[in-house]
Amino acid sequence: MSMKIAVLPGDGIGPEIVKQAVKVLEALDQPFTLEEAPVGGAGYAAHGHPLPERTLALARSADAILLGAVGDWQYDKLERPLRPEQAILGLRKHLALFANLRPARLYPELAGASSLKPEIVSGLDILLIRDLTGDVYFGQPRGVRVAPDGPFEGSREGFDTMRYSEPEIARVAHVAFQAARRRSKRLCNVDKSNVLETSQFWRDIVIKTSAAYPDVELSHTYVDNAAMQLVRAPKSFDVIVTGNLFGDILSDEAAMLTGSIGMLPSASLDANGKGLYEPSHGSAPDIAGQDIANPLATILSAAMMLRYSLNLPAGADRIEAAVERVLAQGLRTADIWEAGTRKVGTNEMGDAVVAALAA
Ligand code: IPM
Ligand code: MG
Repeated sequence: MSMKIAVLPGDGIGPEIVKQAVKVLEALDQPFTLEEAPVGGAGYAAHGHPLPERTLALARSADAILLGAVGDWQYDKLERPLRPEQAILGLRKHLALFANLRPARLYPELAGASSLKPEIVSGLDILLIRDLTGDVYFGQPRGVRVAPDGPFEGSREGFDTMRYSEPEIARVAHVAFQAARRRSKRLCNVDKSNVLETSQFWRDIVIKTSAAYPDVELSHTYVDNAAMQLVRAPKSFDVIVTGNLFGDILSDEAAMLTGSIGMLPSASLDANGKGLYEPSHGSAPDIAGQDIANPLATILSAAMMLRYSLNLPAGADRIEAAVERVLAQGLRTADIWEAGTRKVGTNEMGDAVVAALAA
């Protein structure tokens, strides 16, 4: 049976990195159909909306979605509903892609690229699981109004609403416990329950959910402490579960521990394993079109897609092994280059991974 992959290159470096992942997918010689559509600024430019109807329809009908990145300065002045980021938020919401998996793994060859001492990060392998469809990102009401009360009553104020329902917390907690079960059986919940009602409720539901996973050791940390521990002793973590806003911040921090955010894939899954796969980094418009962007995060996202949505774990293993091989060969894009290695461009890196697939 042929599987359909929606390919959404997006903006900035998106198109050139997605092109490399597509090359790798095509080289696997599997029955995929790849169908492309514009998203983000490119969606706005083509159809007047960051998530054009046809793009959303394609994403809905596909078995999995491969996305590059969205965002470009020229679209930053548009009103919020038309900005590129709305495409990502819209896809997450419309397709109920609530479980975001962001692995932060340090490749031994890249230990020198981390801003932390090698002994602190060597062997690092963390999986951050973030809820993607709740929290202040989507909570209503939100807006700008005249403050109805408080010491600044009568002044203009901005407000968002942090809220999480029990099923929303429980479903992402289940994903996290199951992931922990497949790894070291340790799960750390991150919240701010010493201050926030929402977080206290979140923690209560995570604890309630833990009853189904007696084999998984559950711990809890406040988000400020988690941010500190991530740079002090990152290897003390294995699987982390947290809400949307905290996860946004901590996942960038965790990513950088590995030296380059250019290496990190991500998966955003719905309840049935359908998913959107994208690099954890952004669209980097400052280096777009120069053939210097690192395509490995996108290529590794394609591997995650094979594993989590397309049930082709052997293909995923092959891609990951090929990436390890090109790193071992000493090939580096500019973001991970160091003396003694060979600097290659985006295209050459993609070609090298394709070649390594055959090896
Ligand atoms: C991410 C990004 C997005 C987020 C933006 C682009 C809306 O930072 O995927 O982490 O905040 O979730
Ligand atoms: Mg982010």
